[in-house]
Amino acid sequence: MDLSNHKYKREAWNSRLGFIMAASGSAVGLGNIWKFPYIVGQNGGGAFVLVYIFCTLAVGLPIMLSEFTIGRKTKLNPVGAFQALKPNSHWVKVGYMGVLAGFLILSFYGVVGGWTLAYVIKALTHTMTTFSSSNEAGEFFGTFISNTWEVLFYQALFMGICVGIVLRGVQGGIEKACKVLMPTLVVILVILMFRALTLPGAIDGVEFYLKPDFSKIGPQTILIALGQAFFSLSLGMGCMLTYGSYLSDQENLASATVYVVIFDTMIALLVGMVIFPAVFAMGLEPTEGPSLVFSVLPAVFFDMPFGNIVSIIFFTLLAIAAITSGISLLEVVVAYFIDQRKWSREKAVLITSAVIFAFGVPSSLSFGILSDVKLFGMTFFDHVDNIASNYLLPLGGMLTAIFIGWIWGTKNAEEEIKKNKTNPQWINIWRFLICYISPVAVFFVFCAKFI
Ligand code: PHE
Repeated sequence: MDLSNHKYKREAWNSRLGFIMAASGSAVGLGNIWKFPYIVGQNGGGAFVLVYIFCTLAVGLPIMLSEFTIGRKTKLNPVGAFQALKPNSHWVKVGYMGVLAGFLILSFYGVVGGWTLAYVIKALTHTMTTFSSSNEAGEFFGTFISNTWEVLFYQALFMGICVGIVLRGVQGGIEKACKVLMPTLVVILVILMFRALTLPGAIDGVEFYLKPDFSKIGPQTILIALGQAFFSLSLGMGCMLTYGSYLSDQENLASATVYVVIFDTMIALLVGMVIFPAVFAMGLEPTEGPSLVFSVLPAVFFDMPFGNIVSIIFFTLLAIAAITSGISLLEVVVAYFIDQRKWSREKAVLITSAVIFAFGVPSSLSFGILSDVKLFGMTFFDHVDNIASNYLLPLGGMLTAIFIGWIWGTKNAEEEIKKNKTNPQWINIWRFLICYISPVAVFFVFCAKFI
């Protein structure tokens, strides 16, 4: 099939490194730094980490290669891509689901992204070292997230930064920003890890984190690990598909996939090596939950030599990671309007981001004036997060695997993967994983959810 007519004025990455940085920037985000440690903390430590790594390799990696492949083959957004490969079929709905998921995730991601910006400012004004206990810090956090105008301001600021970058396009905006921001993030993280590991008592945290206790693994653990793998690797919603669509045919898709997966997993593992030693050194509990980073860490900074500088560095890291993921979410929605609706980039960015912000307002207020407005015991924020992360992403991932394995076919996919004249050694393993393991694993998780 000739899809070349789509290619004439489409943007592209400038370099291989730029692409890998941008894709890693999408993957590494709040999922790694905010979610991963508290989920590990709540699910027993080391054993969960092993299950997570298994899900990443057996399900995440093959699906990421599939998304890159569909993207580069079609050079289109998720909707256009499925339409091009299986015209006038129901498969185009998988693309629409992806764009919808991007819209929904960014609407609440922008809220938490806003909190991270606020905490950078609060760290700069020395507020982050004034709490002697995690209770105090937690109270402060609770008051902050319930303050209507403050959270809305920071949510708007976060969206504004993403808009500023995505407006500049793929090469000049996304790629440039990620090439600077991602290495910065790694440097900051390594500094923090040395700081955390040299705290007295840190070794207990390392043990909790690395010593697996298999009695803590059950069906629920596997379910959570798989969901986290999807979210963390930005899979199941056409984000990696869209980034793949800006790739040239010379690119080695298989090795790029391996780099991005390793990078994302390394960052998550590194973050654990920062958080758990610090938490145990301070005699705090790892089971704190979603507020772990926002209310436990300030108490850690209080006692720490150079705590103020460390707090500034840490929240800057969190904000950077959130921004490079936020732009990838926005780009999926924007690419749809540019490709399918023929909007200009400016029009697409400005209109979609305004609508996403507006839709995110009730999520932002879910911790304040709307905290009592609940349906089935969950706030607006919880519902949007739940629908997107726990249903749309795994469903999208499963359908993408079925599409590649059984509909478009691994033969076509392999032709695309080998286009740059390489023959990845693990292609046979990939074929097996994408046809049998990935779809079945996600299906099993869905069944487990409903039983
Ligand atoms: N992977 C990002 C994170 O870990 C979140 C994300 C999900 C980004 C889906 C894009 C698409 O925070």
